[in-house]
Amino acid sequence: MLPNPYAPGSRPAYLAGRSYERDLVDQGLGRIRHLGRSAGPLLAFHGPRGLGKTSLLRQAQQDADDVGFLTAWVTGRSDLTMVEAVSSSLSRSVQHRSLGERATGLLHRLDKVQVEFGIPGAAKVTADVHGPGVDDDNEPRSGRVLSEVLEDGAQFAHHHDHHGLVLFVDEFQEARLNDRKSLLIALQEFDGTPPSPVAIVAAGLPSIHAAVTEAATFGERTRFVEVGGLNDVAVAEALQHPAGDLDVRWEPDALLEAIALAQGYPHKVQLLGQETWNTARPEAGASIGVGHVRLGAEAAETRMRDLFETRWSRATAEQRRIMTAIAADGGDSATRAEIASRLGVESTALSRPREELIDRGLVEPHGHGRLRFTIPGFGDFVRTRKDLAD
Ligand SMILES: Nc1ncnc2c1ncn2[C@@H]1O[C@H](COP(=O)(O)OP(=O)(O)O)[C@@H](O)[C@H]1O
Ligand SMILES: [Mg+2]
Repeated sequence: MLPNPYAPGSRPAYLAGRSYERDLVDQGLGRIRHLGRSAGPLLAFHGPRGLGKTSLLRQAQQDADDVGFLTAWVTGRSDLTMVEAVSSSLSRSVQHRSLGERATGLLHRLDKVQVEFGIPGAAKVTADVHGPGVDDDNEPRSGRVLSEVLEDGAQFAHHHDHHGLVLFVDEFQEARLNDRKSLLIALQEFDGTPPSPVAIVAAGLPSIHAAVTEAATFGERTRFVEVGGLNDVAVAEALQHPAGDLDVRWEPDALLEAIALAQGYPHKVQLLGQETWNTARPEAGASIGVGHVRLGAEAAETRMRDLFETRWSRATAEQRRIMTAIAADGGDSATRAEIASRLGVESTALSRPREELIDRGLVEPHGHGRLRFTIPGFGDFVRTRKDLAD
């Protein structure tokens, strides 16, 4: 039996339709490779969950590896210092690149940093006093060391057959304020004379805007790029390529049906692909038909519903009321005035919960003062949950 090539919840076998975003990363790296400069300000991808930010970042990391950069990957967290995470990722990357003896000095330094800032270690002692992971006294030092680690890694890379260092920061909005500050300040310094061959590429929820500007006034120089849904061609490719690699074909009407169902939402593309495949159980040389898609779609919808349940359960009562009001007329969007009148409140009362919903990626502004759900099918789900809204 052929393995199922679709990957809901993890990196896709084929990353479809993101050439624009990948080119943007490549432009920054090009400044380092060809101009001997830094990559410039932070590049920050943002969008609701399930749209493919982590997958994009992973692909960009592989692209950077392939053209000869040393790379490191961290996920923003509020309970750990970033310098420790960066050091351990960089250390793994250096070892993976088999830089051997030449890297002994750098690896030793990275080890020391991990011991100093990792848990258990110095940070833990103060953390016990101040609460989880908060380590006030060590804060300025950890920022300085973070910048030094990036600089050292980049210089090492530059002098050992690599162009420089690229740091990828996923869930940037979750990182501690001090770490966000340190990264932004370091980037500015790297852009000085002489420049340092360092690039930082971030991804996160829409609240990444606030997370950046809160951290540094010059954070506004950041290049924010929204990661949107996939177009029809990209959805078709996302379904066809992984199957094609196993010599399985999607019939044209099966593809059209799946495109209509997925509505450009990458996570749903993978779910549909996986469940359709499970229904069809194709052998090499076989094809997937529209009947398989229709059966597979039922299972995919159930799994989407689980995802909706999770998001709904994390929303506050006030947020649920607004989402219910958006869904009230049977659609997926509503104007602010409509929401206010459906709830019988002044439209100004909506400002804060509206921002919260946008920050969490549950709704997004859409055209003239409208708010719209970010995941296809969420409106239908909310209508079935009306009872829970009050
Ligand atoms: N460009 C793409 N092409 C095909 N599938 C994708 C693409 N981007 C993401 N996916 C799939 O969508 C799902 C969500 O992707 P992920 O990167 O985790 O999103 P996010 O980080 O924005 O929440 C995963 O199952 C992944 O395989
Ligand atoms: Mg992600």
